[in-house]
Amino acid sequence: MTLRNVTVIGTGYVGLTTGACLASLGHRVVCADADPGKVERLRRAEVDILEPDLPDVVRAGLASGRLEFTQDTRAAVEKAEVVFLCLPTPMGVGGAADLAAVEAVADEIRDRLPRGCTVVNKSTVPVGTAERVAALLDRPDVTVASNPEFLREGRAVHDFLHPDRIVVGAADPDAARQVADLYVGIDAPRVLTDTAGAELAKYAANFFLAMKLSFANNLATLCERLDADVDDVIAGIGHDPRIGRAFLDPGPGWGGSCLPKDTHALLNVCEESGVEFPLLRATIETNVEHQRRLVERVVAGCAGPDGSLRGVRLALLGLAFKAGTSDLRDSPALAIARLLRERGAELYAYDPAVSERRPDLSDLLTIVDTPLDAVDGARACVVLTEWPQFRDLDWAAVAGRLGTPLVFDFRNILDPGRLGEAALSWEGVGRTPAM
Ligand code: UGA
Repeated sequence: MTLRNVTVIGTGYVGLTTGACLASLGHRVVCADADPGKVERLRRAEVDILEPDLPDVVRAGLASGRLEFTQDTRAAVEKAEVVFLCLPTPMGVGGAADLAAVEAVADEIRDRLPRGCTVVNKSTVPVGTAERVAALLDRPDVTVASNPEFLREGRAVHDFLHPDRIVVGAADPDAARQVADLYVGIDAPRVLTDTAGAELAKYAANFFLAMKLSFANNLATLCERLDADVDDVIAGIGHDPRIGRAFLDPGPGWGGSCLPKDTHALLNVCEESGVEFPLLRATIETNVEHQRRLVERVVAGCAGPDGSLRGVRLALLGLAFKAGTSDLRDSPALAIARLLRERGAELYAYDPAVSERRPDLSDLLTIVDTPLDAVDGARACVVLTEWPQFRDLDWAAVAGRLGTPLVFDFRNILDPGRLGEAALSWEGVGRTPAM
């Protein structure tokens, strides 16, 4: 097995996971980040994102001497055989991916890359970016490859070490193989392709996942209308391996730092290529529509005599885009909060991973310390993130504090029977309380 000198540029959750895990496989890894404070903290194994196991892997990497952190990107690439770009590609103008960070780094490292090294894009980027980076680097001796990551936040280390596949694209098949060989001892199919194939595989995966969720959420609406239980319907289809049970739980809409950004970026790619992909547009629109519909249900249950939520206090349980993370980027909980606020609601929110000091949210809602503080004096309670601890709340105490005995469980995590014992009425997504 060949152990390599690897440089990772960008220490977000993808970059840091990649760097620390590659060090754990035996490679010598330098991680570079432009933020000096972050580099200092990482040198002390202080990881500022909530990601299980990552601090331990970073600590072990530092202790082994195979993992280093630096702010000096140019010096970091000088001995590299493989350089990973793990940079942010946020939603830019018209939904297109903003490649400014990738381009700036390409510019910065151009004249420091050793002869014959491989630069690998891990960031999610439109088809053609590898070629664009190659043109920017203008180094015929350097191969640019694409090795998209399929990590989920909250399971990043696990997903890196136990992937379902490793996809690498490069014009030069030897370079693709060299990148795939970095994943020493990891038992997963290797898909070696060209850069366009790898770049598109990443977008196609996130689009497909979002499509499953929009399907599940629409199916839930149909179930409510027809008095069917969406869990049963999904169990009834999910055993078919062509469909699969995973990623079909209805909820408050899909969000996070990837699915919204990547579906919009892919839509932009389709438009620019003159290709109509009606399913993609419908997937995105369904998500927005689904959230509006959920808000209408809250309005129907809680509105004052003027039909609005003006002056109506509501408790929100959960703000993070999913349980196990403190990440609020494109969180469905915040999208729903904004719609409720537009209707006049006063929002008090509790999330176990989101601290009170969020000045950016102060116009939207008040963050409180405990679930009971959130429900105190609220007309109803809306569950927006599937934190398991919400299942075991003291529902009798909640009932004593709520104005109307109404709980909207938009994650379908609560036990309607237990709420019923506390004289609370439960409303889920795609399931009716009588079931
Ligand atoms: C997503 C993909 O799942 C990863 O495969 C991909 O690598 C990653 O984006 C990325 O591109 O970096 P992540 O953003 O961590 O991962 O979040 P997910 O676990 O996919 O959840 C996305 C949203 O769907 C969340 O709002 C979640 O609550 C929601 N969801 C998920 C549901 O509503 N129901 C489900 O059954 C599953």
